[in-house]
Amino acid sequence: MQIVSTASECRSIIKTWQLAGERVAFVPTMGNLHDGHIKLVTEAQKQAERVVVSIFVNPTQFGPGEDFDSYPRTEAADQAKLAAAGANLVFLPAVSEVYASNAKTTVSVNGLSTVYCGAARPGHFDGVATVVCKLFNIVQPDLALFGRKDFQQLAVIRTMVRDLNIPVDIIGVDTVREASGLAMSSRNGYLSAQEKQTAAQLYQTLCQARDAVLAKQSFPDIDQQALNSLKAAGFVPDYFVICRSDDLAKANSEDTELVILVAARLGKTRLIDNIAFSRS
Ligand code: PAF
Repeated sequence: MQIVSTASECRSIIKTWQLAGERVAFVPTMGNLHDGHIKLVTEAQKQAERVVVSIFVNPTQFGPGEDFDSYPRTEAADQAKLAAAGANLVFLPAVSEVYASNAKTTVSVNGLSTVYCGAARPGHFDGVATVVCKLFNIVQPDLALFGRKDFQQLAVIRTMVRDLNIPVDIIGVDTVREASGLAMSSRNGYLSAQEKQTAAQLYQTLCQARDAVLAKQSFPDIDQQALNSLKAAGFVPDYFVICRSDDLAKANSEDTELVILVAARLGKTRLIDNIAFSRS
């Protein structure tokens, strides 16, 4: 496994592979890797000859007062996990390698970036879209893989790629969960042992809500029940919303392809999760 920190080294290695006819899959990360990231790498290996992983804690997707400075940087452990998983190249740039000090361009996906998590974290999805666009320009992969856990992020990236004609196939990969149902996340490390037990109720609430949708209960009743059970468990809910899975607009009783999105704070940790399903 090769490790590089400049865009030119990264590009020249990848160009050699692509000239030899090899497909390149890309897994962008912010490090602090867990089994969910490793699943992205193993899925990438099924679809391409070469797998490139970036580790970059992107400053522009953190708002004032968020955890940019304290975000766990675990590069040695991350590299060991990626080597064991069989990744071919790790791109580990400094902030100055990715952003010019007088950078003036931001990629913004209107509408999708300002609802749900985007409303709670102004500017977050502009930071995500901008860095993913820049990383795509550096790596120029054939395909890129993202976890479905960040459902809204995946929708923002798919829309950006469509709207800007970026020639990269975007693959969504299912969420990896703990035995309790808790979705794996780099931020789970902020939870105490007690909070981690409680956190599993987020997914249980989503499953109950999905069952209630399939049983044709009314959406306002389902929302209310879910918010009540989250509050009773000790969460401070941010949003709980039943959406259409293609454009994330709020669903109505005619829609069949659905996703329920939830964000809630538990102590100091903000957790997100979702469940996607079809109904007839
Ligand atoms: O999901 C993440 O880890 C980040 O938002 C991403 C896509 C790597 C962009 O910084």
